[in-house]
Amino acid sequence: MDNYIDLKNKNDFSELELAGNIIKSGGLVLFPTETVYGLGANGLDESAVKKIYFAKGRSSDNPLILHISNMDMLFQIATNISDLEYKLMNAFWPGPFTIILNRKKVVPNIVTANLETVGIRMPSNRIAKELISYASVPIAAPSANVSGKPSGTNIKDIFDELASKVDCIVDGGTCEVGLESTVVRVIDGIPTILRPGKITPEQIKNIAGVVKIDNHIFSKLEENEKVLSPGMKYRHYAPISKCILVYSKDNDLLVNKIKELSLQYTRPLILSSTENMSYYGNNLVIDIGSRFNLNEIAKNIFTDLRKVDSFNPDIVIIEGVVQEGIGLAIMNRLIRACEYNYVEV
Ligand code: TXA
Ligand code: MG
Repeated sequence: MDNYIDLKNKNDFSELELAGNIIKSGGLVLFPTETVYGLGANGLDESAVKKIYFAKGRSSDNPLILHISNMDMLFQIATNISDLEYKLMNAFWPGPFTIILNRKKVVPNIVTANLETVGIRMPSNRIAKELISYASVPIAAPSANVSGKPSGTNIKDIFDELASKVDCIVDGGTCEVGLESTVVRVIDGIPTILRPGKITPEQIKNIAGVVKIDNHIFSKLEENEKVLSPGMKYRHYAPISKCILVYSKDNDLLVNKIKELSLQYTRPLILSSTENMSYYGNNLVIDIGSRFNLNEIAKNIFTDLRKVDSFNPDIVIIEGVVQEGIGLAIMNRLIRACEYNYVEV
């Protein structure tokens, strides 16, 4: 990494011209968005995009999202857009919302993993938007993390695993949302959520009148089962330590179940809401945020998951949250971090 651009607490973003030029000339740039950091390259340049897959160790059958800063870029890469799709884009862009559309030929196969569709998002983060404008091309960017690890939501968390693999780092501080965008594809006129995120099913239903949640969001795939979104197939967010997710609507039952489980191990680590921490006695505990503020939990959860292995626990017990609003996205990431090891009481 030759260039570090620190934009934390700055208002003048003109240094992004350099980062934009690096994208244009085929380099890799780590940059913030409102969801998570992205590992970006020129989305129309096949050899630049190849570097992303290499840096992440990402399977080539898992397609990337193209990030745009205006609607002209959309028309450059997508075609056959329906009224409902326009409606959704108008409602949720710029913002943490990705839509799967029919692609134009100009989009290289490597971006879409040979699919006829392409994922597109217009981020709201000012640094992301200005970087795309300077680059003046759609930026292909997966979450900034080595494949399998939790997505990066601040530079400190990902510096060691990615700094040596990129040409430029843009530091914009901690990401506001902390979880990746909601991914939606309109199927037979129904917006179908392939990955839950900050934009909730309720919000989508308010715009479209209907919404569907793909049933792979919480269930393990059968071998060779076909999926609408290849990202669903892969091990993700998982620490090396064994993890279990526990949830109950009743907070007392939840705490008691976790205490009971913790007794079966010698060095349990508990990821606890702020309010419940004091119930877990002498156990190792990480505070994941208030259970009455799911936005706070969303913002911290990937950083917390990255910490757990350093405690060397024999089990990580994670408090689940209610699956409402962004809680659906939190639970989707946690259930995968626990590799579907989940109990509800
Ligand atoms: O918030 C986000 O979406 C972040 C920031 C950087 O924008 N990006 C991100 O990208 O999370 P990534 O590559 O980590 O996740 C993209 C997801 C994957 O699950 C992928 O399979 C799915 O979107 N996806 C991309 N293109 C698709 C397509 N054409 N059809 C179905 N799923 C697609
Ligand atoms: Mg990812």
